[in-house]
Amino acid sequence: MPNPRKLLEELHQRQARAEQGGGPDRIAQQHKKGKLTARERLDLLLDEGSFVELDRFVTHRSTDFGLDQQVFAGDGVVTGSGRIDGRPVYVFSQDFTVFGGSLSEAHAEKICKIMDLALKTGAPVIGLNDSGGARIQEGVASLGGYADIFLRNTLGSGVIPQISVVLGPCAGGAVYSPAITDFIFMVRGVSYMFVTGPSVVKTVTHEEVSFDHLGGADTHGATSGVAHFVHDTEPECLQAVRELLGFLPLNNLDPPPERLTTDPLDRRDEALLNLIPESPNKPYDMHGVIGRVLDDGAFLEVQSGYAENIVVGFGRLGGQPVGIVANQPAVLAGVLDINGSLKAARFIRFCDCFNVPLVTFVDVPGFLPGIAQEHGGIIKHGAKLLYAYCEATVPKLTVITRKAYGGAYDVMSSKHIRGDVNLAWPSAEIAVMGPKGAVEILFKEEIARDKDSAAATDRLIEEYTEKFAHPYTAAARGYIDDVIDPRDTRPRLIEALRLLRGKRDRNPPKKHGNIPL
Ligand code: HXC
Repeated sequence: MPNPRKLLEELHQRQARAEQGGGPDRIAQQHKKGKLTARERLDLLLDEGSFVELDRFVTHRSTDFGLDQQVFAGDGVVTGSGRIDGRPVYVFSQDFTVFGGSLSEAHAEKICKIMDLALKTGAPVIGLNDSGGARIQEGVASLGGYADIFLRNTLGSGVIPQISVVLGPCAGGAVYSPAITDFIFMVRGVSYMFVTGPSVVKTVTHEEVSFDHLGGADTHGATSGVAHFVHDTEPECLQAVRELLGFLPLNNLDPPPERLTTDPLDRRDEALLNLIPESPNKPYDMHGVIGRVLDDGAFLEVQSGYAENIVVGFGRLGGQPVGIVANQPAVLAGVLDINGSLKAARFIRFCDCFNVPLVTFVDVPGFLPGIAQEHGGIIKHGAKLLYAYCEATVPKLTVITRKAYGGAYDVMSSKHIRGDVNLAWPSAEIAVMGPKGAVEILFKEEIARDKDSAAATDRLIEEYTEKFAHPYTAAARGYIDDVIDPRDTRPRLIEALRLLRGKRDRNPPKKHGNIPL
């Protein structure tokens, strides 16, 4: 009969060894780099005491290159489940202290196991990435492991929220797992992501570039748009992941989590009356509108440093999570361009996958003209935004605050593409283009003939403005459901959301659409 105390002692010893990862020296090295360990990160991410580990005794099975002499319980990744605000999540956290967090066959199997469980049970997956990439000693077995993960990322896309937090290196093909997931978090000075690193870049293109400039947090937050959230420290970043989870359902069949709010549902806001400048060419900050309308002014902006001419993010109205999409007149006059279209389209599709209603604030002068935009494919990229709005079946609310010109009027959640409730402020101008542009085209010859007639041109502009630069022509056709007092925006949106709770809308059955990629 085995002695149970002895057996327990052995278990505890094995557990303690596993928790040491690569050992105290490696942990010290990790700390010296200003980085937390895999387990410290999970402690910060999850509700206290909620982590339940799986596969802590898994080891690699390799013998090449002396690997049989270097075996660590857990094999460089800590996996399991836990809770965030009491709601279940599956997690993996790569342990850089073991073979630089590199991905072996066994390491990949552990990640795949929790991804499979998450998909079966309908819970989000959060991956904390800190890895030197494919375990070089294992060769193709490691590459296979990556592909197994990519497949699960793709199959889980739109079924469970998937969040990637990059807290160290993430290079080569390894970047494609985070890239398929819904949101990427990065930390300044700690995270970097690139397909090929600085030395390969130098060999191939002769460009000299630092790790940070090539693939650091700010590069991906502001230039490439790969990262959705950029933070200064790991604890701040992990807290922000918790905050994001607070807006998301557990899966695509689950409603997003509601919260009681003390912000009155019928709160009117005087400031909204004077927010739009008198001159139509003067900018204003759309954050001012968003902040005054949402519960407690709380707005979690996504990709705040990228394509700032469009603003996207999460907030609550009457306790119900909503996705905000808003043109930003303070940046490039709120024009739609390639980057802005991509940013908003992906956000809209996320919200639609996960039952988050969309609220769109419109002040858009049109698409950005220029050779760079045309040659860069604004046609196909702008089409993505249009497509995303068209296919979305979640409740769609639209408020036009000022300009809604041309094709951009159609694109920005208009009635014609299944906007459920479309409202306009009295300051709205819904037209094919701005009055000046319209007059210059319509009366081109007259203006050319009579060069001195600035006054006459002004009169024509005035006439056009009176005729078209308001919301009532659109409202007369029912394209706008109502023209509202700006101060009533919050109560009107909350009431509309409540009415749309039971919304049922479906797209025709198909394998999947063919979004213009
Ligand atoms: C095995 C690795 C490893 C890897 C790091 N280590 N990366 N072991 N496979 N991919 C080991 C190191 O040998 C070292 O072990 C320990 O981890 C810590 O690494 P350091 O180099 O000391 O750390 P640091 O100076 O911080 O540099 C980190 C690094 C560097 C920049 C990530 O380690 C590095 O360049 N690693 C190789 C990256 C790489 O080329 N990976 C393959 C990419 S291809 P010891 O015992 O010596 O301390 C790829 C394909 C994916 O990933 C394909 C998917 C489709």
